[in-house]
Amino acid sequence: MPNEPEMARMNTKEVGDGAAVNRLYEGAICIVLAAGFSKVEKELEDAHGEDLAGLPKALLPVAGKPMLDHWWEYLFQNRLISDIFLVSNALKYKHFERWATAKGIAVSRVVNSGATAVEKGRGVLRDVELGLRRAQQVLGQIDSRDVVVFAGDTLFFKDFDLQRILDFHFYKGGSLMLYYGRRDADNTAERGMCEVDVQTSKVVSFVEKPAPGQRGSDFPFVSPLFYILEPKAWKKIPEFNSQLLTRSCSLTSLAGGGSFSFGRFVQYAVGEMKLPFWGMRMPGAFHLIGASTGLEEYRQLDRTFSSMSRGQDGLAPGRIRTKTYARVGLMGNPSDGFNGKTLSVTIRNFWASVELWESQQLRLLPHPLFDPSTFSGLADLHFIGRREGYYGGSRLLMATCKRFQELCTSRGIALPSKNFTMRYDTNIPRQVGLAGSSAIVNSAFQALLSFFNLSSEHIPLELQPSFILSVESELGIQAGLQDRVVQVYQGLVFMDFDAKHMKEHGYGQYERLPRASFEWLASLPFFIAYEADPSDSGKIHSNIRARWDAGDEEVLTAMKNFGELTLKARTAIENRDHAALADLMDQNFNLRRTLYGDACLGWKNLQMVEICRRCNSAVKFPGSGGAVLGLCREEPRASVDAMDKVQEALEAENYVFCPLDLVMPEGL
Ligand SMILES: *[C@@H]1O[C@H](CO)[C@@H](O)[C@H](O)[C@H]1NC(C)=O
Ligand SMILES: *[C@@H]1O[C@H](CO)[C@@H](O)[C@H](O)[C@H]1NC(C)=O
Repeated sequence: MPNEPEMARMNTKEVGDGAAVNRLYEGAICIVLAAGFSKVEKELEDAHGEDLAGLPKALLPVAGKPMLDHWWEYLFQNRLISDIFLVSNALKYKHFERWATAKGIAVSRVVNSGATAVEKGRGVLRDVELGLRRAQQVLGQIDSRDVVVFAGDTLFFKDFDLQRILDFHFYKGGSLMLYYGRRDADNTAERGMCEVDVQTSKVVSFVEKPAPGQRGSDFPFVSPLFYILEPKAWKKIPEFNSQLLTRSCSLTSLAGGGSFSFGRFVQYAVGEMKLPFWGMRMPGAFHLIGASTGLEEYRQLDRTFSSMSRGQDGLAPGRIRTKTYARVGLMGNPSDGFNGKTLSVTIRNFWASVELWESQQLRLLPHPLFDPSTFSGLADLHFIGRREGYYGGSRLLMATCKRFQELCTSRGIALPSKNFTMRYDTNIPRQVGLAGSSAIVNSAFQALLSFFNLSSEHIPLELQPSFILSVESELGIQAGLQDRVVQVYQGLVFMDFDAKHMKEHGYGQYERLPRASFEWLASLPFFIAYEADPSDSGKIHSNIRARWDAGDEEVLTAMKNFGELTLKARTAIENRDHAALADLMDQNFNLRRTLYGDACLGWKNLQMVEICRRCNSAVKFPGSGGAVLGLCREEPRASVDAMDKVQEALEAENYVFCPLDLVMPEGL
């Protein structure tokens, strides 16, 4: 707790090396980095029956509360830090958003980096830049403020004293880093190594991740990711990034963002720019839990902090786990609901999963994030209700089970009487048309099939999409068949919803295209972009369905044309014709725009389209809107630059950018 009564944000403090530079201290801006992908998350996901599975590392409990809560307490108690921004990746974004709102932090302060896998991220420096940019947007003028940067999924030691560090920073001025004496376990090639003049505390040199034998590998100190940067220093970050970008583009791809590690910048600031950095030594015994730490180290950290053992969680055998990927509509949508033809492909970036195991009673577990039932107050409930609506995923599980029972009865399948427990998880962004709800339904359906030892022998593959659609129709979700088809078949799927065939069979003609075609497609520079903060309100609903039912000539013709585009796209893929495919995507969007009108598409969608086109990318909707699917026109090898340009342009307008990773499971 603060010693003094709550004071105003502005504090007069003497800043600088005893030189009494009297200036108003406006409070530091804090950028919390939580966008990484860690080994412990992966291990928790693989450990079936683990209650913590799905949580981002920074929110894993240590001593009974999330790691970030420990940080939050340090920060909250500190008047000198007035603004907090958190950078998350695209998969765990919702978790952080919910964490922030429960703490009274505005959602605009949680930044989505768009990354969905290690190799799709562009490194910590880019995340810091995104955070700085958001801080500028939210706060306006920040030019004179210090910036604190640290990793939200790292805890240093019990009773970490942030105040003492800030006091030291006030006294010294300049920028500050923490350091500790190198331990045997520290591999210098994974650490920021530094030399510090112990008398003056001045950082003499810094080398990021030196290989054995290289300069820096014999330095006595290691610096973890915690820095206080003066304005002179942090303002150089965007410039440094674009230099790195230009340099590394000409060499290789930026995969992994390794070259954008924060230490690279520190090395530059200390070495080349000669900016003053002061070092503060940390005590010896502490736990650093970096990206490479696994479950065991995490448990150890938890034990150290809580000084008591959690005990071994038993891993229950016999659990079923199913996973359904999100998809993008590649061509022809939205004609799937109108007897047209479409091409669609599954993406590895996002998915929904269901876990199911036998139990005494039949239970459907609510998801802690998406089916909230505990709130930190009425204001919190109001916020969540307004933002997320009332429809979580547990109704999808219930409807799937209900319809599953009906389906089995109607097909003469006698289900044994066994009870089970079912729960789900998803990281598919909502309301941007990436087929999030059908992914949950399909996962639940596949888990039920597996639990009752049924297969496509009992429920033929071509009937499964219609079943999934029927679950959603029961809940009043308006949808076409395309998403369900591609999620059941997986990979790159061609669909023909010809009226006569549909009428005769109750389903369309579905064909998974060969792996060679898929692989060529997967090598192209595809991306999606979506609204960081989508909402349903204000959307104007189209009258296309009504006009179709009334036999409107314009609608009938347009739907036929969407089908034609799909046939041409299929040919373009078979001919490996990148340019033709890009042209067709643009035509698909143009046709949609003419048919639906700008008011119906919404200005944000149109703005994303405009930005992509300005950056020489073909673009269309991957689904019903809220997101766009882009394809750089540059050849794959020359596209790194182009991808960066379009990413910058979209992020400048606060859209989330995400390079796509198409997926076709092995064995298909
Ligand atoms: C399923 O659970 C109910 C209680 O909710 C119980 O009465 C029933 O016997 C259980 N069925 C089986 C097969 O265990
Ligand atoms: C599941 O079904 C297969 C054939 O469909 C059968 O060979 C197998 O014994 C069944 N397993 C169980 C546990 O019923």
